[in-house]
Order: sequence, then C-alpha cells, then structure tokens
Amino acid sequence: MRPHFLLVDPGHYDVSYAINPWMDPELWARNPAENAQGARRGFNALHAALERAGAKVTVVSGQEGLPDMVFPANAGIVFDGRVLPARFRFSERRGEEPYFQKIFEDMVADGTLTEIVPLPDGLLQEGAGDCLWDRSRGFAWVGYGQRSVEESVAVIAETFGIRVERLPLVTERFYHLDTCFHVLPRGEVLYYPPAFSAETQARIAAIVPPEQRIVATEEDARHFCVNAVAFDDQVIMAAPPASLVERLSALGYTVSGVPLQPFMLSGGGAYCMTLRLDNVTR
Ligand code: ARG
Repeated sequence: MRPHFLLVDPGHYDVSYAINPWMDPELWARNPAENAQGARRGFNALHAALERAGAKVTVVSGQEGLPDMVFPANAGIVFDGRVLPARFRFSERRGEEPYFQKIFEDMVADGTLTEIVPLPDGLLQEGAGDCLWDRSRGFAWVGYGQRSVEESVAVIAETFGIRVERLPLVTERFYHLDTCFHVLPRGEVLYYPPAFSAETQARIAAIVPPEQRIVATEEDARHFCVNAVAFDDQVIMAAPPASLVERLSALGYTVSGVPLQPFMLSGGGAYCMTLRLDNVTR
C-alpha cells in the first residue's frame, strides 16, 4: 500500500521558546526572515522527497502562536485507521491539541481515519514521536520518561491491541524516542545508544540481532539523521554525513538528504515533521 503522511505547513513556524536543549530562540531571532525562508525550503524539499519516493502527502495549515505544530508526529498515534490523540507535557504545545483534534475529526469525516480514541485523563503522551511501529517484527517500540509518561505504554498496548517494547529515555537531549531510535522497513534499527541506560541497550541488543543494529554516531544523532522517515527501500532524513549514507546504501536503501537546519534549531528532523496515517498492525 502507498504510504500516507500528514505534514503541517511551516507558515507559522519559528523558535520562540525553549522546551528542549536544542532550542535557542535567540539564535533564531538573529535571522528570523532567513530562517523562515530556510524552513519553507526545507519543508518543500521534504514534501518533494516523500512524493518522489512514492508516498501520498496531505498538508494542513498550522496556527499562529503554535510554531511546533510543524511536528505532527507528536500530535497522535495512528494505527489501523484509529488515532490516539496526544497530550503534551509543556503548556507551550498544549494549545495544539484542539487544532489537531479538528484535523483528526476532518479525517474521520473524509474517511482517511475511522475513529478517534481519547487518551485517558491526566496522561501525557506525545504521539508517534514516542511510538514507532516495527513493521518487520509486528510490535511498537514505545519511549517515555522525558515527555510521555510510563503509564502511556500500557494504554498504547491496550488501545491498539498490540505488543509493545518499552524504551525509557534517560537524557534531556534525546527527549522523544524518534530522536535516537528508528526502525527501517526490513527490521534494521538505527539508534544512538547513549540515549538509553545500559539495561535498555542490552534489551535492544537481545531483540535486534547484531547484523541489524546500526549504531548512530554522535554526529549522526546531532544532525537529526536518526529522525528518519523510511518505507520500501527509501530513507529520507536531514542532510546525513557521508558515512551514514554509505552504511545505509550497503544495506540496499536509497537515502535522500533534505536541508532541515531551521527545524533542527527546534530539536526536530524529518520523522517528527510527519505523521504516518496508514500503519496497519495486522
Ligand atoms: N520543539 C519541539 C518540541 O520540543 C520539537 C519536537 C520534535 N518532535 C519529535 N518527535 N522529536 O516539542
């Protein structure tokens, strides 16, 4: 089936607050116009790369005053046409919730989605940014500890009737699972071990055989290359170091690098700028 991604137009994007260690409002404010232009170029490049690789893309508008809406991966988890909308940890992003609710309602109305399943009260969960579907293994890797809370893991498993593997996040820099962990379509895992405790690293190693473990370098992680979008034999990511392209090419993947620097100033890359709408769990 053709992959389908939701993107949010970057017309209201900027870096005007800091809720993770990568965000630097002052740096943004030095060249706001240039950064906004760069964001538009990067967004267009991502959009084009997704379509070139064969995906269907739906773009919705963002909202003034909610710059991080450009990261719809955090808006919810979508499996089998059912969406579990997110609840954000920080007030800076809470305002996104009603807008994404409306976007999901429109998608139910037009048949893109079938159902909205509300997240239990009081629970924090930041969407697909902390829940990555592993197509080859048939379960989800679920992150928590920085933004999403531990209790969200069981809720995800129950809501979708799926198996989950829990991955506590132990550093502030790698605050969403998608910043430090990615599963490729054939089951290889690209990940940055220092984002996890020794125990979690051992658990990953027990599930993923050595030939399927691709250890990201500090440079790969810092350039948000782990935050990749992949389907079929295509991998799309923020401009990667040559060594990473080589490693992925050797596995038979075609890598497209896109210039996403203005989004990296907010602590995001390609994956979090998308929300995949067509994942099926069975
Ligand atoms: N500035 C955003 C935040 O801190 C970036 C989110 C990036 N999303 C992601 N899934 N990694 O919430």
